[in-house]
Amino acid sequence: MSTTTPTPSPRAAPSAPAPEPVDRRITREVLRDLGRERTARRRVPLPKGNLGPSLRNTLAVTTAPLEMLLEHERRLGPVFTLRLAHQAVVWGIGAEANHDILVKQADAFGWRESRFGDLWPLLGDSFFAIDGPYHQQSRRMLLPAFHAKTVGGLAQGILDEAVEGAAQLQPGTRVDINGWVRELAMRIALRVLAGIGTDSDVERRFAHAFERALAFHGRPLPLQMLRGPRTPYADMRRARAELDGLVRDEIDRRRAADDPGPGVLGMLVAATDEAGRPLPPGLVRDHLMTLLFAGHDTTTATFSFLAHEVGRNTGVRDELLAELDSELVDGVPTARQLDGTALPVLERVLSEALRRYPAAWVGPRRTLRDVEVAGVEIPAGMAVHYSSWATHHLEELYPQPMAFRPDRFLPGGEVDALPKGAYVPFGGGSRICLGKRFAEYELRAIVATVLSRVLLDPDPADPLRLSFTPTLGPKGGLRMAVRPR
Ligand code: HEM
Repeated sequence: MSTTTPTPSPRAAPSAPAPEPVDRRITREVLRDLGRERTARRRVPLPKGNLGPSLRNTLAVTTAPLEMLLEHERRLGPVFTLRLAHQAVVWGIGAEANHDILVKQADAFGWRESRFGDLWPLLGDSFFAIDGPYHQQSRRMLLPAFHAKTVGGLAQGILDEAVEGAAQLQPGTRVDINGWVRELAMRIALRVLAGIGTDSDVERRFAHAFERALAFHGRPLPLQMLRGPRTPYADMRRARAELDGLVRDEIDRRRAADDPGPGVLGMLVAATDEAGRPLPPGLVRDHLMTLLFAGHDTTTATFSFLAHEVGRNTGVRDELLAELDSELVDGVPTARQLDGTALPVLERVLSEALRRYPAAWVGPRRTLRDVEVAGVEIPAGMAVHYSSWATHHLEELYPQPMAFRPDRFLPGGEVDALPKGAYVPFGGGSRICLGKRFAEYELRAIVATVLSRVLLDPDPADPLRLSFTPTLGPKGGLRMAVRPR
């Protein structure tokens, strides 16, 4: 069973005013998009590209986005415009574009009125939909939960769960490895990170409602846009209402007991603003949901992709198994061995999995002012997307980009010489992934404990297929054969 999760020390809640709400009704959003484009184009021409309505491009972004983006990058250069549904979207691909968007010109890009807004019905007005001082102060408030020392302190809890989870993988069976890791990652997130693991009924109901709510974002876009009592939207709102109730009960219980309780939830319950006022329960919920949302699909998909590639690249697998066999005692890493320095082969395999399949493959923004990206001017008010996935597959940065070659990441190897912005699976700059360290500890723990016990072979009858919304993942799960070591 897990060791107890401590409560990270709370920091002051934001004193900056919360942002004004945005009218998220679909018709309003479409009209706003079209109006902003008209105003922008009157002043500055859009980067070259495909500005006419195109069903082909609109569908391709949900069926084969990598091929589509690479093809446009080859023809038009690193910055181009595509009309997707009604909206003209400027894409920035490549190291320079990423660095401009994430670091050099980051102040020219907002998240609030970008496609991140689609997450509002589930996540409310939280991290993915805020900018400026309110975002910086909210991030500062949450940071103690993700410091090296805090996450290092959670390593044993993560390991305990990983060992228990790995024991469920019985040799001789076929398992949907993506489904298996989703359950494990949900337990780790709830028990170890959030600190909600004391009541198994609450945990079960939470996990179930969370998966139901999340499934909405994996539905085809036209279905997501439907409204009415029996639509996927209505089901997601019901799931969210259940989650709201569960989080609110947990907050009430902790406040009534005058004990904030463990984990990130404890930290949020304990946080007060400068006047000593606690965070409103709705905001605690939005932050908690955002952390769980941001970490769940991403971490689970990364493990599944890694298992798939290690399973079919026997040279890589042998090297990884040799390292685990020589460094681990009884097939379980120590908490210290999860810090990224102790198991270099595992580290390279993880880096290559995140290159080849960066789960958060697209980063949506909106320009807040006119700005130059990779030497191309983009007017204020435009939707701009960067793509780690497309960048990670540019031949000039990563020779044989489709090949799974962890040795790229050897010290002094091809990746060392790459420019800033070439490798961005966790984004970059001041909004780099908040949960990066936690995700890495969790992935190292799961990979090491699983592969020390069993081998996972891809099922030739069930090839990997990809889904792209809300993140890159294995479509319909990923069945693998479990073999004894
Ligand atoms: C392998 C797993 C993960 C990957 C690949 C990943 C990737 C990313 C990326 C690319 C961004 C930036 C998006 C952009 O620039 O548009 C991001 C942001 C974020 N991630 Fe992660 N993430 C992972 C796991 C996690 C986990 C476990 C958590 C929390 C427990 C988390 C919390 C966040 C948050 C809160 C942000 C927004 C940060 C901000 O706005 O300041 N992520 N993540």
